[in-house]
This record gives sequence, C-alpha cells and structure tokens, in this order.
Amino acid sequence: MKSLHVMVVVVFFGTTAAMADTAALYQKCAACHGAQGEKSGLGKSKIIKDMPKADFIASMKGYQGGGYGGAMKNLMEAQVKGLSEADITALADHIIK
Ligand code: HEC
Repeated sequence: MKSLHVMVVVVFFGTTAAMADTAALYQKCAACHGAQGEKSGLGKSKIIKDMPKADFIASMKGYQGGGYGGAMKNLMEAQVKGLSEADITALADHIIK
C-alpha cells in the first residue's frame, strides 16, 4: 500500500501542488469573503465570486498599487501584499468559475 501511495503522489504532484497552493492562499481570504467567495467582506465589499475575472484582477492590483478601494482599502492592501501576478490569476481562477 505504501508504494501505491507514493506512485499516486508522484503522478498527481504537478497539478495538485498548484491547486493546493491556491487553496491555501485563499484560506486567509475565506474568513471575510466566505469559503466560496460568496460573502461580502465585512459587509463592505462586492461578492467576489460574482465579479468578472478582469475586475477581480484589476482590483487586487489596484490594492497593491494603492489606487483602488473604499473606506476599508487599508485592510485589503495588507491582504494583497506579497502576492505575485501568478498568485492573483490563480486566485481569480479558484474563486470565479
Ligand atoms: C479581514 C477581512 C478580509 C480579508 C482577510 C480579505 N478581504 Fe478582501 N475585502 C475586505 C473588505 C472589507 C473589502 C472592501 C475594502 C474597501 O473598502 O475597498 C474587500 C475587498 C476585496 C475585493 C474588491 C471587491 C470590491 O468591492 O471592489 C477583492 C477582489 C477582495 N477583497 C479579494 C480578497 C482576497 C483574494 C483576499 C485574500 C488574499 C481577501 N480579499 C482577504 C475584507 C477582507
């Protein structure tokens, strides 16, 4: 059984590693935006799963650059710090179907 387990891990490593990373990244967002992005963050944000992907990406980059947001933008600026462009795209694909 142990060798079977190792084989399965090797075969699926490529895709599951990327997916697990994104799911882990989204963990910290879920507290405010809901497990599926279905909640308004602290009652202030849009429902992020219903945003067009382009708007989601633009707002995330906007928070990084300091040029986007409402009354609670400081909070989101702290959340997006350190995310790469690839992280943001992966999050968009993870949240928005
Ligand atoms: C502590 C609660 C909290 C966490 C954690 C959090 N957010 Fe937010 N999010 C908010 C709030 C509040 C706003 C509205 C901020 C404002 O006034 O601009 C917001 C806004 C947004 C917006 C823009 C929506 C709009 O209304 O324009 C996006 C996209 C977003 N968050 C995605 C994320 C992602 C992705 C993560 C994880 C990396 C995350 N958030 C983590 C609370 C949170």
